[in-house]
Amino acid sequence: MPVWAAPEITGWRRLPAHAVPRGGITLDGRWRFQLLPSPDASLSDRWAQIDVPGCWTMQDFEDVHGVRDLPQYLNFDMPWPDLPPHPPAVNPTGVYEREVDVPAEWAGRRVVLHVGAAESVVLARVNGIDVGMGKDSHLAGEFDVTHAVRPGEPNTIGLTVVKWSDATFVEDQDQWWHGGVTRPVRIYSTDPLYLDDVHISSGLADGGAGDLTVEVRVRSAGGLLPEGWRVSAWLDGPEPEVELPVDEEFAALAAEREQVSGWLGRVRLRATVPAVRPWSAETPELYGLTVRVFRPDGTVADESRHRVGFRTVEIVGRDLLVNGVRVYIRGVNRHDFHPRTGRVVSAEDMRADLVTMKQFGFNAVRTSHYPNDPALLDLADELGLYVVDEANVESHAYATELADDPAYLPAFLDRVSRMVRRDKNHPSVVIWSLGNESDYGVNHDAAAGWLRGYDPTRPLQYEGAIRYDYESGRAASDIACPMYASIDDIVGYARSGRQTRPLILCEYSHAMGNSNGSLSDYWAAIESTPGLQGGFIWEFWDHGLMQRVTDGRPAPDGGYAAGVAEPGYRWAYGGDFGDDPNDGNFCIDGVVFPDRTPKPVMYEHRELAGPVRIEPDGSSRVLVHNRQHFKDLSWLAAEWELSASGDAVAGRTAADRLRTVPAELPPIPPGGSATVDVPPELLAAPAGPGEVWLTLRVTTRDDLPWAPAGTTMCLPQIKVRDEDRDLITRAGEQIAGAGVGSWPVEVDGEGLLVHPLLASPPTLSLWRAPTDNDRIGGHAARWEELGLHALTREPLDVVRHGERVVVRARYTAAGGVSIAHEQVLTPTVGGVLIEETAVLPDALADVPRIGSVWETAAGFDAFEWFGQGPWETYPDRCAGGPVGAYRADVDRLFTPHARPQESGGRHAVRRFALTGGAARLAVHLDEPRQVSVTRHRDADLAAALHHDELVPLTRCVVHVDAAHRGLGTASCGPDTLAPYLVGPGTYTWSWVLSFT
Ligand code: GAL
Repeated sequence: MPVWAAPEITGWRRLPAHAVPRGGITLDGRWRFQLLPSPDASLSDRWAQIDVPGCWTMQDFEDVHGVRDLPQYLNFDMPWPDLPPHPPAVNPTGVYEREVDVPAEWAGRRVVLHVGAAESVVLARVNGIDVGMGKDSHLAGEFDVTHAVRPGEPNTIGLTVVKWSDATFVEDQDQWWHGGVTRPVRIYSTDPLYLDDVHISSGLADGGAGDLTVEVRVRSAGGLLPEGWRVSAWLDGPEPEVELPVDEEFAALAAEREQVSGWLGRVRLRATVPAVRPWSAETPELYGLTVRVFRPDGTVADESRHRVGFRTVEIVGRDLLVNGVRVYIRGVNRHDFHPRTGRVVSAEDMRADLVTMKQFGFNAVRTSHYPNDPALLDLADELGLYVVDEANVESHAYATELADDPAYLPAFLDRVSRMVRRDKNHPSVVIWSLGNESDYGVNHDAAAGWLRGYDPTRPLQYEGAIRYDYESGRAASDIACPMYASIDDIVGYARSGRQTRPLILCEYSHAMGNSNGSLSDYWAAIESTPGLQGGFIWEFWDHGLMQRVTDGRPAPDGGYAAGVAEPGYRWAYGGDFGDDPNDGNFCIDGVVFPDRTPKPVMYEHRELAGPVRIEPDGSSRVLVHNRQHFKDLSWLAAEWELSASGDAVAGRTAADRLRTVPAELPPIPPGGSATVDVPPELLAAPAGPGEVWLTLRVTTRDDLPWAPAGTTMCLPQIKVRDEDRDLITRAGEQIAGAGVGSWPVEVDGEGLLVHPLLASPPTLSLWRAPTDNDRIGGHAARWEELGLHALTREPLDVVRHGERVVVRARYTAAGGVSIAHEQVLTPTVGGVLIEETAVLPDALADVPRIGSVWETAAGFDAFEWFGQGPWETYPDRCAGGPVGAYRADVDRLFTPHARPQESGGRHAVRRFALTGGAARLAVHLDEPRQVSVTRHRDADLAAALHHDELVPLTRCVVHVDAAHRGLGTASCGPDTLAPYLVGPGTYTWSWVLSFT
């Protein structure tokens, strides 16, 4: 076995990790490149060119050796059958070379080559001299190359990146497998007397002071430190710089060491900084710190700049406290991902990710499942996000074997300790994580022991330690951090009397496809149950890779710009690159599309996390709650908006404008409430008949680093007037008022409605195009067996009673079960009142929907509705859709999931209209119902594997549901909860369909 594939050897001449930011000369750009079939293959004289950083799996390059290595998506199976620690014989190996001019002034200085990250083993050379080897795919390899560089001349840098090794067995995360150099590469120099590491602890002391300790480690490239070196540090501030005094006790220790060995200088500097502004995710206050080491002659040898955030994090009882306050963790899991570059993400990409999170109410991110580029932590410090920093340890396929295997102990320790040494100075990092899905064993305890000794200031978590008992695994987890636990489970634990530590779900609410049902139920439980403190949604990204469509299929017509791959491309998932084995679209499970377009769940989350909530307080007053932990409301602006079911939807009238009034947010302290008067002119505004809703549109007042002024933060809403008469009664009054003339539609001999604007008449529907949750949760197969997708209708009788027609029919599912259905049809002015009854037998215990489906003629392109919106909502994911009057293009109602499925629904719709040209088709519902209008039939959605296969109809497919099954999260986690199921029984629903 080659040395790089031996588990005991985590690296060779790889410098220790440290927290001293370094610049240098970038080596990013084009490199010479060859992809070999294995590390033993010989190089050719011909070189291709490739980008660094870049995955070779995602780039076009001249294929000199006939080797192509494309992305492969696997959840947890290893991509080859050999047991640990053996890598496979076929092992793509990238050889990179380029020149760099090393400045003549670097002569006599210490020179370091920094490889930001490479997947997975990197062996580095300078001018043909081997300088070192590193293994962790998500941490830098740094190598001292002083002996190998030739200052003042071009130098050849060589990197050999071997894709598979023993270490791959602890990098078995659920993700695309790539190969290449994935983070920036540079070369930098330092004085021979240099800052080896800077360890900052910045807590809070009594009286609002900051408690700052800076431990500085100094080394000399020459070996022994010169007599008389000195270290100082300064904190930036409005006042003259505060020079930190040397801590006497520790200074003495450092001096002693210096005398004994002279190899390592350690100095501790300490200061109490009066009246600091504490750091938190809400208030990301940072102070600049400069650290310098001086030569014996008093000149500066080395200097580093740091940003300091003063904050505390501690666990008291079963609460995680930041700055003494129990904060909710509204988190999301994030992988390094980009649809074009795979795992290579720029600082701008990372900023855009975190900005999106902030705009949608997330205050925490778990770096699933490995340390991210340090730039991400800089951004989290600056923008304000709590980070669970996770070590690159996941041995999923061989978890039990490796958790206790001493051969792999160095890998566990190396990965955890390097992450901690690198990231310890970031205030955003509030919790360390030992890794993911690696069972639980002594290797974890060993890594935890190191970590607790090195950094006693932060808690640590590891899901494997508490997997079977939330009270177990104390050595390795200070937090009960389960994944995908049900609400009953976590509430049960919190109420059991057994809970001794905070419960924060490390993963929950799996966002695969149309999902995240019951997110609001989770939060209702969390906010009402002491001991429950939040969690991290799985996950941020849909990992769809941009892939050219080669079979000549037409590109989508551009109707769905957001979320869809560019014309001619699609979002590829497992199997699309010929990768075998693969785990299909299980990687398409994020709250944003691969182009970072927010999915509908983001609006749900934004509302649940909103800084402001309201509740009625009498008829003209509202109780306003400040839901934040640290801030008042002065950074927010707000507006009252009134919406009424009597509103005209299209076009705002003068009366509508009267219904938007600036709101004054009172000075409410964090966690506090105050009563405010609703402006009387608003309540006096003409609202017409029907229900009336009051929304407080809360926006950012000024430009923020993560949101321009005017960005919506939440839209809390209350109902101020109930519907006085139901819509059907009102439609009935129309009938009475105008008198019934002739039938505006026909009823054919089979009892089906016929009208030129209807391409197909309303019939019973019991099925939806399975969501990923339906499919993976096993329901789709059950529904298919029942034959819900293929109902045949048999008219039993069509009886006319005066103006009314009563149509009784039997629908039989392909599996044989029959459903009795009745429609009572009564003419109205320009339309028809349809009163429906269907009886679901016990054999149909759990169906996706029951309701009517029909299709319009071509030509309808706009949808107006009064109900929840404007974005997609479903029965168990509708907390973020305020009730109002909305209008949208029909083409934009549908949510373009990479793998098509049921989507585009709108919840609690009271009435809607479809318009196009001169035609208008309107529907009034008896009560708020689930409605969807799309260009796709359910069967077409279910048959398509990729979005670009869909051919939109020119007609509209309309579903009006008496009941619609919630979405749940069964693709990984709890199924739809009982209140959102559609079970056996008698269902009635009525609606007025009219044509103008
Ligand atoms: C978890 C795992 C994640 C991901 C998720 C399902 O078990 O930690 O990496 O696989 O399930 O999408």
